[in-house]
Formats: sequence, structure tokens, C-alpha cells
Amino acid sequence: MLLLALESSCDETAAAVVRDGRTVLSSIVASQISTHAEYGGVVPEIASRQHLEAVSIVVEQALQEAGVGIADIEGVAVTQGPGLAGALLVGISAAKGLSFGRRIPLVGVNHIEGHLLAVFLERPVEFPFIALAVSGGHSHLYRVDGIGRYTTLGQTVDDAAGEAFDKVAKLIGLPYPGGVAIDRLSAGGDPQAIKFPRPLLHDGTFNFSFSGLKTAVLTHVSKHPEAKEAGINDLAASFQAAVCEVLTKKTAAAIAETGIKRLVVAGGVACNSGLRRSMAQYAEANGVELSIPSPKLCADNAAMIAVPGDFYLGAGYQSGFDLDALPVWPL
Ligand code: KG4
Ligand code: ZN
Repeated sequence: MLLLALESSCDETAAAVVRDGRTVLSSIVASQISTHAEYGGVVPEIASRQHLEAVSIVVEQALQEAGVGIADIEGVAVTQGPGLAGALLVGISAAKGLSFGRRIPLVGVNHIEGHLLAVFLERPVEFPFIALAVSGGHSHLYRVDGIGRYTTLGQTVDDAAGEAFDKVAKLIGLPYPGGVAIDRLSAGGDPQAIKFPRPLLHDGTFNFSFSGLKTAVLTHVSKHPEAKEAGINDLAASFQAAVCEVLTKKTAAAIAETGIKRLVVAGGVACNSGLRRSMAQYAEANGVELSIPSPKLCADNAAMIAVPGDFYLGAGYQSGFDLDALPVWPL
């Protein structure tokens, strides 16, 4: 099936044309980051308006780059949630319009499910596998037994990993989005320079907590103001190391307990070079088959939405025109 997929849950307006939920013919992402950077974070009202301006353009570009016309498209998949309500509604309205106008089926998709399955656009992974989804809004560990068969093993009890990166970046004066900035600065720093806590590391659950780590960074910079100046590389590297160690060790514990030696790491934070490195080292040392999509498929995009979209449409499931945004939607 040739699908058009749309994604507008946060600050990226994206459209993609994907064949059979596996082959990406085009994937266009219009980022609003520079607009929101001025405000130090995503402003929901501005995001909605920018999605409105961009949505038709990204759809046109996706069709053009794929070398197909709208008449060739056999179904539309759209992010239904979780995300910003007003932002989601733009993608949903566009998808409904295309579905109604062309009389092709429509399906609403969970954004996190898209992240988890994005890897299939690059390589097959056998079920079951353990998946770590780390983004601006999520830090979840799942057991995945098939498409649509997810068991939550653990999740953050406060901030998501990406949120922690963004908040720490803001408090040490780095521009939004902070994850990328911290990653870049970490490259020149010593990850052992500052001993930040490893929250919940030994609590016996698969849950995460990152807000205390943010407070630890705040306390450190208030006692050592120079850490934000000459010491910024060490500060970034030490914070990043703490997050990556907790994410890697909790994931390792889930793999040890379930005995499932296949791992997928997904979501925007999976772009982080420290996390990719520590997961690769752990996987190598423990005979775990690790799959992390390339960074463009870890960050928000529409192609990933087509993977579950194609599966559900193929299974005969279809959304109605009463499809509504679900700002909160646990998998
Ligand atoms: O998946 P995503 O693009 O959007 C959401 O669904 O939230 O994830 C965005 C998050 C942001 O918090 C951003 O700072 C973080 O992913 N991120 C990173 C990196 N690139 C993006 N965090 C750490 N290191 C990176 N290189
Ligand atoms: Zn995302």
C-alpha cells in the first residue's frame, strides 16, 4: 500500500510517502526550531500556526520527491497523539481532508508507536524485543511482542529524558533545543569531572527519574558559577554521562530479567552520541542485538507514522472522520 503519512504533534511539520510501511519514497520535515528558540521552548499557539502554514507545502514536497501524484496514494496515516492538541489538529484536519477528498482510508497513529517502529524502515527486527523510547515527552521501557502488542516495563516518574536535557541546557544558558547543545559540548568534556547522582539506579524497578538530576546540576552551578563558563564542557559531559548510565543500566536490567536479547532504542534522545555509544558498548559486551535508527529517523518525522499506519490499515482497521486529537495517549 502506498501511504501518505503526516506528523504535527510538536514543533515539526512532516509528511512522507512510504510503500508497504517499509520503503521510504520521501520524508519531508519542516522544523520550527528557530522560531521557538527565541522563546527558549515550544510555544503551543505559535506551533499550531506554523503547522497551518507548512502542512500543504510539506505534503506537496513529499509527493513531488516521491515522484507520485495524490491520485496514487492509497491511504493516509496521521499522528493522533500524544502531543500538543492544537498542533495535532492541524495534521489531523489535513489528513481528513485528503482522505475525504480522495476517498482513501484514514488511520490515526500513536506518535510513540511510530518512534518504536521507525527502525523497520531501515532493517527488520524480530519480535519480541525490548524498546527504550526516549524523547521530549517520554522515557519508557517496553517489551514489544508484535505491532500493537506493547507491555510497559518502566517509565519516568517525573521529567522525560529529553525534557531533562532541555531544562538543564536552559538553566546553564544553552539555546533550545538543549539536547543537541549538551551533546555537542560533551564531546570536549570529562564525563567523570562532576559526580552527579544516578537516580533510581538501584531501586529494583525499571522506572526513571530525572528531575533530581536537574536539581543537582542547579545546586552545582550555584556553588561553582565557573562551571557554566570555563567548565561548561565538563558540566555537560558529566550530566550526559549520568543520564546515559541510568538509561543504559535500566535497559540492561530489563533485558536481564526478560531474557530478550534484542533491543531497539528510539526517539529524539536516541540521537545522543553518548547514549548511542553506551548502548553499543553494553550490547557488544552482552551479546545483545542492538538497533538504533539513524538520527533522522530518531527525531520526529512522518515516515515512522507510516509503519504502524500501514499495519493497521492492512489489518482492516480504519479511523472515522470523528478522529480527534489525543494529547495524552499511553501506548
Ligand atoms: O522525539 P523528539 O524529536 O520529539 C518528541 O517526541 O518529544 O525528541 C525531542 C527531544 C528533545 O528533548 C531534544 O532535546 C532531544 O530529543 N534530543 C537530544 C538530542 N537530539 C534531540 N537529546 C540529547 N542529545 C541529542 N543529540
Ligand atoms: Zn517524538
